[in-house]
Amino acid sequence: MKTREDLIQEAKKNVALEAIKHVKNDSIIGLGSGTTVAYAIEALGNRVKNENLKIMGIPSSYQAFQLAIQHGIQITTLDEHPIIDITIDGADQITPELHLIKGMGAALLREKIVAIASKYNVIIADESKRVNILGENNQAVPIEVLPFALQLVKSRITELGGAAIIREGKGKLGPIITDNGNVIIDANFGLIQNPQELSVKLKMIPGVIETGFFTNMTDVAYIATENKIEKIQK
Ligand code: 5RP
Repeated sequence: MKTREDLIQEAKKNVALEAIKHVKNDSIIGLGSGTTVAYAIEALGNRVKNENLKIMGIPSSYQAFQLAIQHGIQITTLDEHPIIDITIDGADQITPELHLIKGMGAALLREKIVAIASKYNVIIADESKRVNILGENNQAVPIEVLPFALQLVKSRITELGGAAIIREGKGKLGPIITDNGNVIIDANFGLIQNPQELSVKLKMIPGVIETGFFTNMTDVAYIATENKIEKIQK
């Protein structure tokens, strides 16, 4: 008998397999981060081995980098390939308009850079990520912050109406440190009607490096429900 967790993992695998159908030979692939994308990276590795698919990956995190190596995907850089053909990534919240919150894996900065460099962005997630408005269910928006400016940024976020918490590490004392040497503030603003406007206001604070709002970047999202895959397209 399959557990609920088994079904969630199966659903994640299914959307990963759907996403990699977009990947064509001789292309540059942005590799997102997270547990759902991990299945896509593994499945891409299988296509490299079984179909002799020729691709090069640009990882958005140390996790994606390690997975790509493990599954035999050749790595390249944005310097060598500033235009990415397609990026596959996960999300923490997705609205029907394809606005996202990302960054619960603390990889949002490079994920956004890779997304912006991409001609086509595919998002994959299980149905727990689907919302009507960003910020539902007390979801905070992760914000990558320069450690030097941490307290300044925290108080400016509070002035903007957000409840700001510095993310603590697991298996490490003190704040988590991102792949870029920064820290993460999780800022809860309640329901966010205009994520783009809020993102601009946050980015005006010196020391804010990037926010986890990904608006108007996604071309298609595949959301796994228990027995089907829902496609949301622009
Ligand atoms: C990491 C992210 C991830 O894509 C997001 O957290 C989803 O992860 P998962 O597929 O494990 O639920 O934004 O910064």
